[in-house]
Formats: sequence, C-alpha cells, structure tokens
Amino acid sequence: MHKIPLVDVHSEYASLIPQLEARFREVLDSGQFIRGPHYWAFQEEAAAYLGVKRSIGVANGTDALVLALDGLGIGPGDEVICPAFTFYATAEAIARRGATPVFADIDPVTLNVDLEDVAARITARTRAIMPVHLFGRPLPIEPLLELGLPVIEDSAQAFGAPGVAEHGTVSTYSFFPTKNLFCLGDGGLIATNDEELAERIQMLSFHGSRDKTDFDFVGYNSRLDELQAGMLRIFLPELAGWNAGRREAAARYAELGLGDVVELPQDDPGHIYHLFVCRSPERDRIRAALTEAGIASATYYTTPLHLQPALRFLGWERRSLPVTEEVATDNFSLPLWPGIPVEAQERVVETVRAAVGAPARA
Ligand SMILES: Cc1ncc(COP(=O)(O)O)c(C=O)c1O
Repeated sequence: MHKIPLVDVHSEYASLIPQLEARFREVLDSGQFIRGPHYWAFQEEAAAYLGVKRSIGVANGTDALVLALDGLGIGPGDEVICPAFTFYATAEAIARRGATPVFADIDPVTLNVDLEDVAARITARTRAIMPVHLFGRPLPIEPLLELGLPVIEDSAQAFGAPGVAEHGTVSTYSFFPTKNLFCLGDGGLIATNDEELAERIQMLSFHGSRDKTDFDFVGYNSRLDELQAGMLRIFLPELAGWNAGRREAAARYAELGLGDVVELPQDDPGHIYHLFVCRSPERDRIRAALTEAGIASATYYTTPLHLQPALRFLGWERRSLPVTEEVATDNFSLPLWPGIPVEAQERVVETVRAAVGAPARA
C-alpha cells in the first residue's frame, strides 16, 4: 500500500535541485558563509515581497520572536498577550525575555486569538499583543492596532498571506522545513516598517553591534546563514505558486465532500493553508482509520500552552480557556502540500468517510 505523508517537502523543491546545487557550489567557492551577499540581498527581497521597508534574517523563528520583543524593549515586569493555542515558541519567547505571557482564548471558527478576549485582558502592564496567524489563516490586525499597543505578528506559519506584515508593528517568520516558505535547515526573519526598530534588531542579531568592534547593546548571535539565504532566494519566487497550490488542494478537499463528515477549516481569501486542520468529535476514530490505511495525520497543541509544565509557574488552571481546551481535544490535520495528487486526496476522503460510517460518494 502506497503511504501518504502529511507533507512532501521534497516534491516542492525537486525541480529546483539543479539551481540549489549551483547555488551551494557558488557559496562554497566564495568562502563567505556569514553575512555575505545572499544574506543582504534576501533581506531586501523578503522585505519587498512582504511590502515592508526592512527585514532581518535570523537563526530561526523563535529567535525572531525574542529579538522582536527585545527590540521593542520588552522584558521583566511586562505583560504580552498571546494565544495558548499555538506552538510553544510563541509564549516561550515572551518568558525568555523575562516578561509574562498572558493568554487569551481563541475563536472557535478561525482558531485565531479572540479579539474581544484580548481587549479584556489588557492591564497597566501590557506592553504588546502577539497574535499568531495560525495554520496560515491571517487574522485581521486593524482591530488589535486600535487597542493602542504594539502588535507583534507571529507569522511563522503565514509567510506571504495577504494582509500580514504591512500593518502590524513587527512580524516574525520561521523557515523551518515544513513551513510555506522554508529553507534547508533552521532560519527565521523579522520584518517591519519601523526603520529605527529594524536597525536595533539588525544590531541585536549581531551581538548588539554594527561592526563587531563596538558593542552598543547586549545582543545575540543569531543570523540567517549565507547558504540558507542563498537557497531562500531560489524559493521565494516560487512561493506565490506554492501558496496557490495549497489553496487549490484545500478547495479540492471541500469538493470531494470532506465537509459532510468533519468540520473543515473555514476558508478565507487570505488563507494559505500552512496546515489543513479539521475538527471532529470522532477524531481518534478517524486518525486510527487513517493510520490503518497508511495515511499520515497529526494533532496540534493537545496540551495548550497555559497547561504546559514549563509555564505552570504562571498559575493557569484547567478550564480557564474553554475554547482553546476544546479545540485541543478535537483538531487534526490531513495531508496537504502544493501539488498533492488528486488520487491521494480521494483516498484520504474515502478513508475519513468510512471511519465515521458515511457512504462513499458516487
Ligand atoms: C507559530 C510559531 N511560532 C514560532 C515558531 C518557531 O519557529 P522555529 O521553529 O523556526 O524556531 C513556530 C515554528 O515552529 C511556529 O509555528
């Protein structure tokens, strides 16, 4: 039986291998592996793609969050509001800065942070709001900006989604190999329209220095490698096509009748489907049937961040974020990547329908 993976990154770059090999060779011949020409050029190209003035390449998406917070001067005594239904790094970065993550619940339909709950959690100590464009679905930023606080968009799952980056104070990205825009290892980026903030973050990522001789801040050593920047310059022009391919695959799941038996991710014109996350009270039965049929699936944030052992010191109790905790029990993702074969999607849908006792579609 032919197995169906959750993602197939190799198929995304297979046709680009000759270009990637040539780029690798070029960087090898140059002997320049840190802050070389591809690093600087990618920063400009990524900023232009995102529609912002500046971007800074860093070592990974977690560092991007930490550096954005540091650049804004956020640290001990400060509170930052974020969702608990997200990857751990969102809150980890806040805690790493010595600040306090304050969790807001999510919207049951979009799975993004609930705007009203964010507003309700603002105190005199709140220094920023950190929404996540979860699973590639952009969250409208304007209502958050109206609250009058800096907005740090954790866009790790949403590079190139419409409306992301241009309006918020600063946005951050991960190039982890399963992301919509990925590199061949770890990588990250920070994007902003604020030149002063960009300059500070650029220096923070380089030991708080411009030249590694005079050090103005206590910073970090966190830079996007030259080789990764070189690869990303090959991938970036492909991204619009890849994101369109993801949207096509998501639409096909709906056409194939998957929505008759599970709750599909709610579409939005800007959704770029980093992951295709459905909901069902019968998730465990469905996933067992998928495994049996050789089809990969996954669940997300089954222990939401407010209940994670490392963050227990914050004192959150069970049932304090009811929607988050409910979605943690019933979400699961299905295989999706740009160019996923139709037959694979048909097999997924047939297997899910059979698992919940629905007849196969004619
Ligand atoms: C929402 C979110 N924030 C932050 C990160 C951290 O990115 P990285 O793994 O590159 O450190 C990730 C990805 O793993 C993520 O999904």
